[in-house]
Amino acid sequence: MKILFIGDIIGRPGREMVRKGLRKLVEHYGADFVIANAENSAAGFGVTKDIGDTLLEYGVDVMTSGNHIWDKKEVIEYIAGQPKLLRPANYPAGVPGRGSYVGQTGDGRAVGVINVQGRVFMIPIDDPFTVVLKEIEVMKARTRVIIVDFHAEATSEKVAMGWHLDGKVTLVVGTHTHVQTADERILPNGTACLTDAGMTGPHDSIIGMEREPSLGRFLSGMPTRYEPATGNPRLNGVVVEADDKTGKALAITRISYSEQDLAKL
Ligand SMILES: [Fe+2]
Ligand SMILES: [Fe+2]
Repeated sequence: MKILFIGDIIGRPGREMVRKGLRKLVEHYGADFVIANAENSAAGFGVTKDIGDTLLEYGVDVMTSGNHIWDKKEVIEYIAGQPKLLRPANYPAGVPGRGSYVGQTGDGRAVGVINVQGRVFMIPIDDPFTVVLKEIEVMKARTRVIIVDFHAEATSEKVAMGWHLDGKVTLVVGTHTHVQTADERILPNGTACLTDAGMTGPHDSIIGMEREPSLGRFLSGMPTRYEPATGNPRLNGVVVEADDKTGKALAITRISYSEQDLAKL
């Protein structure tokens, strides 16, 4: 089966790219299942019920997230009742929501999704390397096709997770940096990896935010108010083809589409 993963959706420009492009991409790549990181989908900060439900209507099957999941207070109620919205599985026990989900393709094949978050240059929550193994152990009775969104800052931590899970999952894809890396490959035991899927949102920006306030922080060292940018939206992500029985990756294709590219599909 083929799975399309969409990198961090940033505000309205990102959501519009999903609205305009998702059905076309699903058709073009023959995708059976769609996962999208939605942590920045509400004006760059968090996700709301309205926005989450809308992304599901556009054709997203499961939403992952990361450190921005709690930015909108209403998400605490939403995530409790929406199993298709994940937060990192390695948040301490008792935190609302879940870190994994087993969904189904249109023809009834199971796909597992696990979301974990790194600890290098991020808040030090529980160990993602231990937690992810526990999640896989539970999930593998139901499906061998497992996608891991590792939401992390450091490339080293993300590459390490790929090797840690080689042969255990279909894909380890990084999110959070909003800058797509070009290192997609399949490791020797059949796990596809990409250090960062990049972002689905305005690329004439500083990782999704207006350039001036963001640059101002670097120039002055003083706090500024981030505003989501709008220019040059792109849809970034990755498509992985999995062997249904073994869960091993057969192919990995990194994608990056402008509005014009999507219109031509
Ligand atoms: Fe993000
Ligand atoms: Fe993040």
